[in-house]
Amino acid sequence: MKTQVGIVGAGPAGLVLARLLELRGISSVVIEARSRDYVEQRVRAGVLEQRSVDCLTEAGVADRLHEEGMVHHGIELRFGGQGHRIDFSALTDGKSITVYGQQEVVKDLIAARLASELPLLFEVSDVSVDVDRPAVSFTHDGSAVELECDVIAGCDGFHGICRDAVADHLTVFERVYLFAWLGILAHSKPSSEELIYANHERGFALHSMRSPSVTRSYLQVSPEEDIDEWPDERIWEELNARFALDSGFSLNEGEIFEKGVTPMRSFVVEPMQHRKLFLAGDAAHIVPPTGAKGMNLAIADVEILAAALESFAASGDESGLQSYSEDCLRRVWRVQHFSFFMTSMLHRPENQDPFEAQLQRAQLDYVCSSEAAARSLAENYVGLDRV
Ligand code: APR
Ligand code: PHB
Repeated sequence: MKTQVGIVGAGPAGLVLARLLELRGISSVVIEARSRDYVEQRVRAGVLEQRSVDCLTEAGVADRLHEEGMVHHGIELRFGGQGHRIDFSALTDGKSITVYGQQEVVKDLIAARLASELPLLFEVSDVSVDVDRPAVSFTHDGSAVELECDVIAGCDGFHGICRDAVADHLTVFERVYLFAWLGILAHSKPSSEELIYANHERGFALHSMRSPSVTRSYLQVSPEEDIDEWPDERIWEELNARFALDSGFSLNEGEIFEKGVTPMRSFVVEPMQHRKLFLAGDAAHIVPPTGAKGMNLAIADVEILAAALESFAASGDESGLQSYSEDCLRRVWRVQHFSFFMTSMLHRPENQDPFEAQLQRAQLDYVCSSEAAARSLAENYVGLDRV
């Protein structure tokens, strides 16, 4: 089997890349270890920056996103029993974010790929890459396949094989946090029009949503937390305690139909390329979810990669491919910083040092009282056009 770009992984990075290449007349084969059902049901984050929405719109895969996605013009920061709105539109010349589940984006992209009758192979196994030839080998439907390509796109997420295949040539930058997020999906009406990020002495909490009747909420917990220790009543009680307002507040409760604990880390490899293997998305970097950036960063990487591949395919011009890593990493580190900033400002480490607690409060007060500080948060949250 032969193609121009062998894409390993059908998450947002791999699928958006495949779509952008299709629109540029570049052939690709996408291979995915899991089943279609699994990737379409996997619950992940759900905030799209304006530029990600624009990318998906230009790629012709955003009809449902525009129908069902919820456009938000701000967020609330809640601490000390008070809520404080950060008004994105006022602070960033009218920009907004769209709340739309990552698995919905994945469903739309898979539907588009299949409608175009282009190769997308699920449930492949024994995947390996040869970065010198280059080629991707795997088993599909019981047969061994070798996919020869001009370039390999390693879009196989944090636990994929592409990064490991070139690990000797990469430098790792990493920070592991002492807390995790317990996330739930519930059949309940959102309790606020916008997302609420709460810093409470019992720990961080986030209230988000997926539709007018489904909410997504998170609680800061320990990374070793046993989910069985969290029956539904305890979750609602804890969420209500952390979102408490002096003026009174309680969440709309409902049946919890999904629960899970996700550890948090910051991770980057440099460079994001070795020979003809280009890493994109979670394969190259992970951000803690507090800045809502994971999917946006994956999309930003593959926009750069698609443009570089277009020049390469058209005229053999390799300059875009050569600067791929550097071009991506500027945004990656800006976003790492923002995600670290949001995480540090909002979470309460166990046995928090009282000095640090005061610094955290001073930072929150500043962001909520200074227009300059609020604007900095807002422009990062909605996404910087240029980095
Ligand atoms: N071969 C083929 N596919 C693989 C392999 C492999 N050896 N290993 C992993 N995969 C697949 C995974 O099953 C997954 O579907 O690669 C895909 C990677 O997708 P994601 O993990 O969603 O990563 P990415 O596309 O980079 O998107 C980043 O995902 O984790 C979230 O917060 C993150 O929102 C961000 C987004
Ligand atoms: C979500 O809706 O899942 C979500 C929202 C904002 C975040 C993280 C996750 O910062």
